[in-house]
Amino acid sequence: MSAPLLRLEAINSFYGPVQVHFDLSLVVEAGQIVCLLGGNASGKSTSMKTVLGLQRPGSGKVWFDGADITGLPTPRIIRSGIGSVPEARRLFGAMTVRENLLMGAYTRSDKPGIAADEDRVLGLFPRLRERLKQRAGTMSGGEQQMLAMARALMGRPKLICMDEPTMGLSPLFVDRVLELIQAINREGVTIFMVEQNASLALGIAHYGYVLQTGRIALEGPAAALLRDPRIRDAYLGGAAA
Ligand SMILES: Nc1ncnc2c1ncn2[C@@H]1O[C@H](COP(=O)(O)OP(=O)(O)OP(=O)(O)O)[C@@H](O)[C@H]1O
Ligand SMILES: [Mg+2]
Repeated sequence: MSAPLLRLEAINSFYGPVQVHFDLSLVVEAGQIVCLLGGNASGKSTSMKTVLGLQRPGSGKVWFDGADITGLPTPRIIRSGIGSVPEARRLFGAMTVRENLLMGAYTRSDKPGIAADEDRVLGLFPRLRERLKQRAGTMSGGEQQMLAMARALMGRPKLICMDEPTMGLSPLFVDRVLELIQAINREGVTIFMVEQNASLALGIAHYGYVLQTGRIALEGPAAALLRDPRIRDAYLGGAAA
């Protein structure tokens, strides 16, 4: 039996005196799209920050690719194979699309490999290829989301963590971004994504977890969660078929 690519093990997280995670445990199997659902302030973004080493847990462990990465500095975690598409995308607005893209390869030094990956990634995102010289800050929200995903791919990650990738996008871009997440996954990249929109996320995911005030309230294969009345009542307005 192979170990999961990512495992959070009994994580307790705190901001000062406030506890955000309570014995949070979850696994992300290699090759899958796993979504973490939950309402506002349930601790979703903090889970992402914990994986990326941006928030150190009070107790518990983060395992990635067989190694304990708890407490490692973020650049080392990224070099070990984790890419990030953070909340609100964190692009460098005054830099061009191409400069932003290449920032995603800053941990690498293999120039021919970087050039080949740039070409491969732009193949997935033809819209960005047309806009390489445009300043990132002048692009639409959907285009910026694509750039954030493309930038993450430039690090050749095994796993990409995404925090609300569809937030604030028009319906057309929401569909496009979801398709791209699936395309990236088909290329062999494992995806761990946070979403508030349960039906969208479960529509493309293999497995899902529901976080409620820092605890896993529910988990299961995405198809089963979509049918689960508890999910429908809490997150799909009770109306989904
Ligand atoms: N840097 C911080 N300092 C203090 N408290 C924080 C900090 N970041 C988050 N929190 C608190 O921790 C709790 C969980 O926040 P988190 O951002 O993980 O939730 P979330 O599920 O991502 O919420 P949202 O759906 O609004 O994005 C919230 O109550 C939040 O106010
Ligand atoms: Mg959040």
